[in-house]
Amino acid sequence: MNKQPKSLEEIRAQVEACHACPLADGRTQTVFGAGNPQARVLIIGEAPGKNEDAQGVPFVGAAGKKLNALLDIAGLDRDDVFIANVLKCRPPSNRDPRPEEIELCSPFLRDQTRAIDPEFIVTLGNFATRFILKTEVGITLLHGQVQQAGKFKVFPIYHPAAAIYDRKKQAALEEDFATLGCLIREADAAAGATTAADAAAAADAAADAAAARS
Ligand code: URA
Repeated sequence: MNKQPKSLEEIRAQVEACHACPLADGRTQTVFGAGNPQARVLIIGEAPGKNEDAQGVPFVGAAGKKLNALLDIAGLDRDDVFIANVLKCRPPSNRDPRPEEIELCSPFLRDQTRAIDPEFIVTLGNFATRFILKTEVGITLLHGQVQQAGKFKVFPIYHPAAAIYDRKKQAALEEDFATLGCLIREADAAAGATTAADAAAAADAAADAAAARS
């Protein structure tokens, strides 16, 4: 039996109350995620940094500025998407998330994914990509290629922070966000085509029924 998804507000309250790992002791506040609760695109980063920890909002520092510009390339803005992280608390000195922290924090991301029920999941960098795709293959090989994970189309992309000092990654990021925009428009067109085909079939059926009556 399918359980009813938790509401985002319920999940947020659980995140705020969480003390499951020592990251809770060092946080200023949790960073739950932000954006459109009905987004078609869920973007998943790694963990809050200093600015995010201070403001309680994901991607507000330098990587956030980059992400905003990249979303623009895809024809999206922050109100179109929901942005969350694998970890909801800042690791000290922005070190990498540890496996046990990911394990303890991951139920929140799973519940958020169920609540938002997006069409696309964009994973930024290795940690989010490995977690969602359950793979050890690195982002360098996977970025820019759509993968299917259950009902979700997963689109791995480099983490925007990786491009701050690397122009090649910046070019790949821009290309991948442009591809993301195309994928969304293609999905729209396919949905439109289905609707048009349904409408044509319905018109045919109505005409047949009318002919049968006469
Ligand atoms: N990097 C992330 O992965 N997430 C943030 O929220 C900010 C920087």
